[in-house]
Amino acid sequence: MAYNIKVTKVSESKLQNLDFDNIPFGRVFSDHMFIADYIDGKWTNIEIKPYQDMQISPANSALHYGQSIFEGMKATKTVDGNPVFLRPELHAERFANSAKRMCMQPVPTDLFLQAIHTLVDLDKAWIPPREGSALYLRPLLFAMDSFLGVRPSDSYRFMLITGPVGPYYAKPVRLLAQEEYIRAAVGGVGEAKTAGNYAASLLPATKAIDAGYDQVLWLDGIEKKYVQEVGTMNIFFNINGTLITPETDGAILKGITRKCVLELLDDTDISVEVRQIDINEIIEHHKNGNLLEVFGVGTAAVVSEVSHLSYRDSHLDIPNVGKDNNVAKMIKSMIEDLRTGKTEDKNGWLVPVDSKTELV
Ligand SMILES: Cc1ncc(COP(=O)(O)O)c(C=O)c1O
Repeated sequence: MAYNIKVTKVSESKLQNLDFDNIPFGRVFSDHMFIADYIDGKWTNIEIKPYQDMQISPANSALHYGQSIFEGMKATKTVDGNPVFLRPELHAERFANSAKRMCMQPVPTDLFLQAIHTLVDLDKAWIPPREGSALYLRPLLFAMDSFLGVRPSDSYRFMLITGPVGPYYAKPVRLLAQEEYIRAAVGGVGEAKTAGNYAASLLPATKAIDAGYDQVLWLDGIEKKYVQEVGTMNIFFNINGTLITPETDGAILKGITRKCVLELLDDTDISVEVRQIDINEIIEHHKNGNLLEVFGVGTAAVVSEVSHLSYRDSHLDIPNVGKDNNVAKMIKSMIEDLRTGKTEDKNGWLVPVDSKTELV
């Protein structure tokens, strides 16, 4: 169904203040935002208005009990200058699944898609023209009841904010696999993109940074030896030319980049294994000279190479990091070339931003 979206435009765009060559990640927001409330069993107050602060009750139950989820996705331009999303329906689906796990009212797919198309169409001038840059989209959903007490909220707010981000020239990262803290266990909320998962990661991540690493490589919560994921990325190991990534067992975020990578690799002659990976197996492969590459994949960096991995007394320097034509670079180009339209979109993953959306 098509929802009626009330649109109030800014009187003057902030865009002229933006230096597209120098955009700090996560600090610049485009002119408009989308907002919709779920009240008395229906979506209402659906509008786009100038990006602005909002009032929240001090008793807002999301602040107290954490019913809060989000998504992260990008709008980019093809080489012909056409704004596109990559597989937006998968983000709508994951957003709904996160909501269900957190006992929240899921946002209908058609409302999610209408929100991203309408808002990005209005603010499309904010999509950076440079290759590797993007307009980052942050859909979020949180409880709106003003109520102290542990029960699901009856009312929710769905919002969408966007902001331009520059190319992510990530240096190869140093990872610490440690056993003191866990991110998620099967049966918990690891598969949901919910705020608390990120809060829980901050102390271990801060300790890892203090110890000279960039991020934590999470291990499973029970045996503390099976590899899960890293920071905001899913992880791949290149063992003698075979790529191995952990299966999503309910405790790992089902990354959309991971899914795209696995499906793109289906069309290559690179062999792939999706299975449980014991960290001790990785150490053994490194000892034998079979561990060639480690890299993370996710929306923000696309692909981020790992230069070093530590676990207990083992400190592994990864041999093929940064090398021309390694598999990590090949995968990054496959995704970026698809987004820019340099390679054919055989699977129909690119969705043009709908510029015919009627504004009421
Ligand atoms: C915990 C976590 N794992 C993995 C990912 C990668 O997922 P995606 O490829 O959908 O961005 C993200 C980012 O969303 C994340 O936050």
